[in-house]
Amino acid sequence: MAKQKPEDATSITLSSEDIRPIYLQVTARFKAAIAEGRLAPGDRVPSVRALASELGLSRGTVNLAYQILAEEGYFEFRGTAGTFVDARRPKASAPSAPISIASSEGLKQWPEVRPLQLGLPALDAFPLKTWSRLVNREARKVGAEKLAYPGPAGLMALREHIAAYLTFSRGIACRPEQVFVTSGHRASLDLIMRTLYQPGDGIWFEDPGYPIVREFLLSLKTRLHPVPVDQDGMVVEEGRRRAPDARFAVVTPANQSPLCVMMSMERRAELLKWAEEGQRWIVEDDYDSEYRYNRRPPLSLKAMDRNERVLFTGSFSKVLFPALRLAYLVAPLSEVGNFERASRFMSAGCPEFHQAVVAEFMEQGYFIRHLKKMRSLYAERREFLADALREVFGDGIAIVSPPAGLHLVVQIRGVGSPYSKIGELAHTEGLGLQPLSSWQMGSPSISGLLLGFTNVASRQTARSLCIKLKAICTAVADHG
Ligand SMILES: Cc1ncc(COP(=O)(O)O)c(C=O)c1O
Repeated sequence: MAKQKPEDATSITLSSEDIRPIYLQVTARFKAAIAEGRLAPGDRVPSVRALASELGLSRGTVNLAYQILAEEGYFEFRGTAGTFVDARRPKASAPSAPISIASSEGLKQWPEVRPLQLGLPALDAFPLKTWSRLVNREARKVGAEKLAYPGPAGLMALREHIAAYLTFSRGIACRPEQVFVTSGHRASLDLIMRTLYQPGDGIWFEDPGYPIVREFLLSLKTRLHPVPVDQDGMVVEEGRRRAPDARFAVVTPANQSPLCVMMSMERRAELLKWAEEGQRWIVEDDYDSEYRYNRRPPLSLKAMDRNERVLFTGSFSKVLFPALRLAYLVAPLSEVGNFERASRFMSAGCPEFHQAVVAEFMEQGYFIRHLKKMRSLYAERREFLADALREVFGDGIAIVSPPAGLHLVVQIRGVGSPYSKIGELAHTEGLGLQPLSSWQMGSPSISGLLLGFTNVASRQTARSLCIKLKAICTAVADHG
């Protein structure tokens, strides 16, 4: 039987100072009660009617708050038995005093998975059973010979599969020896910079561009030059004007991060020409080229590279899952020796166990099947979110990104305040969306919000997230 909730565990006071809509205040109070252990998994909460009458609110307001709490996994509806704190939730460790924002920062759970979060594949759709079977099989194969140091450039079986995959899917003719397996895209960049960067070299960096890579390159004390991006990708002419002596360009040609535009053939040719004439390097970040929904993914820039100026990088974070921490780079044939030397002095390679599982996943055809499935799933989930945005915002919203990638870029009419304010309030409300401004370095040429859609699993979820977003936008517009 459900435990009786402690006295006043759900007592809620609403504040007129709080700029959030009432139903979001209600959800926030319940979330706090659950986080602090005042409400435990399995506890019954007041009925919509009882709480509405106690707080003097309409039933519709309380009902909306309950729907959101159920969508986000806090509540479960058990028909006539009532509404309960979801019994599957982990128990809060002990009832405690509310923690201040400052101290809660230190306790923040990592990794976080929030609705509308960017950069995650569909976590619910990964073939975990198959994966576990392969993991178990690999575990049974572990023998003494596998306990020594791994190969610094990666497991040969995986390097062979990556080389074969790149040949047929990205048009890259490379040998397995050119493929270096790393523990993520930043590790690939680290290896590239250790091997080829010389102090003082300038780097063209897309603006807007991925802030984590931007910060990482800055932390290596490299000189970054923001170069604007338009509907054809990086504006090469502008790069030449701003930093003519740069020696590197870091670009996302297949699917610009975050605008999702594809670099045009003219721009690709211009960029390659720039690299060839000055013996410069282009780092091609191909992190999610597989996801384009209205046409086949374009071939890579590396496929057009006749003079070995392109350093191609890929990652398993979007096509499998990010906790794997496996990525790779393709070094030019002439530089393989230098890359090998640098890789020996880095982290001495990635654990071979999961490399072997990925190799087997590819060998048995699961990888290609999974990609195909995800491409149609993401097209559908993108539509869920796009349709719900149009339904909830009407003419007030414009989706400005092409059908590609793992997120939407949207602009909302009549916001009045900077999108960063929406981003801040959305963050306190538990949403993972981001303002485009945090991806920009120079003067912004475009503004908007980035909304991840890969984990929006139904039309209903999409709709309640959009209702919540609209309330946040209204609250920000009303209070400047
Ligand atoms: C632009 C870009 N490049 C590369 C990556 C892959 O990074 P990692 O391999 O560290 O997961 C990401 C992941 O979000 C990304 O957004």
